[in-house]
Amino acid sequence: MKIETKNLIKNYSKPKSPEVCVLKGIDLNIKSGEKVALMGPSGAGKSTLIHILGLMDAPTSGEVFIDDKKIDYRDNNKLSVMRKDNIGFVFQFHYLLADFNVIENILIPVWKDKNKIITRAEELLGIMGLTSRQKHMPHELSGGEQQRVALARALINNPKILFADEPTGNLDRKTGEKIEKLMFDICTQLKTTLVVVTHSEELAKSADRQLKMIDGKLI
Ligand SMILES: Nc1ncnc2c1ncn2[C@@H]1O[C@H](COP(=O)(O)OP(=O)(O)O)[C@@H](O)[C@H]1O
Ligand SMILES: [Mg+2]
Repeated sequence: MKIETKNLIKNYSKPKSPEVCVLKGIDLNIKSGEKVALMGPSGAGKSTLIHILGLMDAPTSGEVFIDDKKIDYRDNNKLSVMRKDNIGFVFQFHYLLADFNVIENILIPVWKDKNKIITRAEELLGIMGLTSRQKHMPHELSGGEQQRVALARALINNPKILFADEPTGNLDRKTGEKIEKLMFDICTQLKTTLVVVTHSEELAKSADRQLKMIDGKLI
């Protein structure tokens, strides 16, 4: 799926505080299947931008189009259907549910259909090299293993777009690079559009395009 934005603006306001302008007019055009690395210093607005593109947050003004369809950020039902059907998200922290085992965590986004989709979950576990760990609890895994489970969970609905917000920022470099390569390979294979926030020049080089953000603007 392709993503387009027009003059995207995000401000935060609070009574008795000056307004914070986080996104200052973002115009973006990401092609279907394109892999984009989003870079820039901390506080630039990268997370804010991909949360909005991932339909988890709404812009103050401006427009987002996914496959030419304008997103209506007021329609929560439509947003959640769109997220469930088309979008995967990987965060810097894994956010696995502590009381559920590995395979259950992967199935969380599709819980109602879990019996139908369990084969795909097992397949993803295989791709992640975690087949023998499916009954383990999150705390029994290393950081890299936990993040691979989070990646499998993000992929369980075969998303057309995958967003990753510094997905390996908490991992050592070697483990991080392995997971990033896995993520890139899967997106290539499935023609998934990928937007990944990263500080790694190395990772950015393997993307189709690098975007740099500074102080709420793309440069
Ligand atoms: N709820 C909020 N209220 C006020 N400011 C916020 C809020 N959330 C984020 N910000 C501000 O938005 C700016 C961009 O944050 P973020 O998108 O997380 O940047 P990045 O991911 O590039 O580090 C920061 O200056 C941050 O303080
Ligand atoms: Mg961030």
